[in-house]
Amino acid sequence: MNNKWTRRQAGDPFVKKRNLEGHRSRAVFKLEQLNKKDKFIPKAGTVIDLGSSPGSWSQCVSKISGPKGKILAVDGRPMSKLEGVTFLEGDCGDPNMIKQVEYLIGLNACDLVLSDLAPNMTGIKLVDAAAWRNLIEIAMQYVTLFLKPGGNFVGKFFQFEDTEEVVSNFKSQFSAVYRRKPVSSRKESREFFIVAKEYRV
Ligand SMILES: C[S@@+](CC[C@H](N)C(=O)[O-])C[C@H]1O[C@@H](n2cnc3c(N)ncnc32)[C@H](O)[C@@H]1O
Repeated sequence: MNNKWTRRQAGDPFVKKRNLEGHRSRAVFKLEQLNKKDKFIPKAGTVIDLGSSPGSWSQCVSKISGPKGKILAVDGRPMSKLEGVTFLEGDCGDPNMIKQVEYLIGLNACDLVLSDLAPNMTGIKLVDAAAWRNLIEIAMQYVTLFLKPGGNFVGKFFQFEDTEEVVSNFKSQFSAVYRRKPVSSRKESREFFIVAKEYRV
């Protein structure tokens, strides 16, 4: 870890809050802030969480959706057990993974698809843009296969040259699409979120 990273962590109020409250990741505050505004986490619904590890989003959804909720989390990295959450470890773009999700959830049966998928950024814009584009296309594939008509999608986006084209694709498939930058998302980051409501098949 370099000094800049250590200083940033030490001065970050959300890192402090995360430590105090014992969350798995500071990413939880982004989801909480998004959901406070747009209210998309269903009570007792079915949710797919893509890029779930270490698990703070799944944990937050599980608290809100309660014991009748069904959460399927997918990540290429391991994730320790969470009550009420089924975790699949592997590449979410792998056709075998998609088959497993279909087996567990069924087609067009999900109320919410979440994607906090993020590539390992290299700092080379073209490379990072292509890696993110691949991930958001995978997320879109999950929307097409698994989201119910009327369901919602919330995804992490990064501002690159052709990001607006991807946003437009989402706009054409949902009744309403909101662009959000929660206060816990670092100002200097290219990251923002799309909250897409009411999937239109
Ligand atoms: C920002 S982190 C997610 C944090 C998580 N939402 C939380 O609250 O704990 C992004 C995750 O995306 C995962 N990821 C990136 N590409 C992936 C892929 N192709 N398949 C599965 N997981 C992937 C990474 O392993 C990483 O854990």
